[in-house]
Amino acid sequence: MTPAPNLEPEALPCTRRQLLGWAAVAAGALTGPLVAPSPGRASVSAPAELLRRPVPSTGETLPIVGLGTYRVLDVDEGGLDELQPVLAAFVAAGATVVDTSPMYGRAEGALGALAERLGARAKLFLATKVWTEGREAGIRQMEESLRLLRADTIDLMQVHNLLDVDQHLATLAEWKRAGRVRLVGITHYTASFHGALAERIERGGLDFVQVNYSIGEREAERELLPLALRRGVAVLANRPFAGGAAFRRLGNSPVPGWLVERGVETWAQAMLKWTLGNPAVTCAIPATSKVGHLQENLAAGRGWLPTGEERDRLASELERALGM
Ligand SMILES: NC(=O)c1ccc[n+]([C@@H]2O[C@H](COP(=O)([O-])OP(=O)(O)OC[C@H]3O[C@@H](n4cnc5c(N)ncnc54)[C@H](OP(=O)(O)O)[C@@H]3O)[C@@H](O)[C@H]2O)c1
Repeated sequence: MTPAPNLEPEALPCTRRQLLGWAAVAAGALTGPLVAPSPGRASVSAPAELLRRPVPSTGETLPIVGLGTYRVLDVDEGGLDELQPVLAAFVAAGATVVDTSPMYGRAEGALGALAERLGARAKLFLATKVWTEGREAGIRQMEESLRLLRADTIDLMQVHNLLDVDQHLATLAEWKRAGRVRLVGITHYTASFHGALAERIERGGLDFVQVNYSIGEREAERELLPLALRRGVAVLANRPFAGGAAFRRLGNSPVPGWLVERGVETWAQAMLKWTLGNPAVTCAIPATSKVGHLQENLAAGRGWLPTGEERDRLASELERALGM
């Protein structure tokens, strides 16, 4: 087996861009790290632009609501027509971040086909994962992702569940230098591995971490998210609706008036805004197969975001509505 790579910070010296990115986040931590949408592009009829947050390692900013693909994009050729309007509306709204995986059945291929149909590759921030053991198997899986996504470059490659993480990070350092991936991250789907994710973040060299984070799965906010913020690691928050289970638990209570006054029209938006109210979260990635749900979710990435006491109040409202 290839020796484990040295991922200490000195092995991956920080670039000027990284320093600028961290400086942007450090400055943002005082004032809220949201980046105002570019001025002069809103019109009376068009919705406001999506809020954006910086990726600390590069300084580039991303819209704070993205799209997950688990289950919803696991479709064959015949299912693409129904999903095309979803990706078209996503791109039209200026959203970019799409998260997929070789483990999501046909999702990578469906995403690649839709992006090609829409001529949208250049507008998307493609995130996928590697989840296998061994250097050669990892390379084969990532090559296949590139093929299925019909892409020359993956924006973010994440080592899923820390499986053979040393090996894959070594390969990814090479792929980064070769321009085949732009950014590198790690993910785990269980809170019991947050300590292991934290240990990896402390070693340096990572651009992103992806974890579950919703009102129903709050564990990440204790230590992992503050650590990511401190160490300049961007965060993808997955399962913002707890995999959709939240909708089955919602009672009939209407969204409270004080939230409606702040532009929150649905409980889905309330949940997303709560997740996004944590300044460590760079982007939340709800999955949906429906244009209406997509528009609803994207709307949560505009306008007001809860902080401080308002966010606590929102949490109480959600817990009550969800019967927690
Ligand atoms: N790294 C990891 O370990 C990991 C683990 C889990 C997930 N993920 C990523 O995170 C993404 C999101 O997680 P997830 O897909 O498990 O769950 P989720 O985003 O929390 O929930 C998705 C479900 O919510 C429904 N939904 C979406 N928007 C809605 C709205 N506005 N109103 C009502 N229902 C709505 C969707 O159904 P409709 O199609 O009907 O809208 C879908 O069934 C995944 O797709 C995947 O990309 C990563």
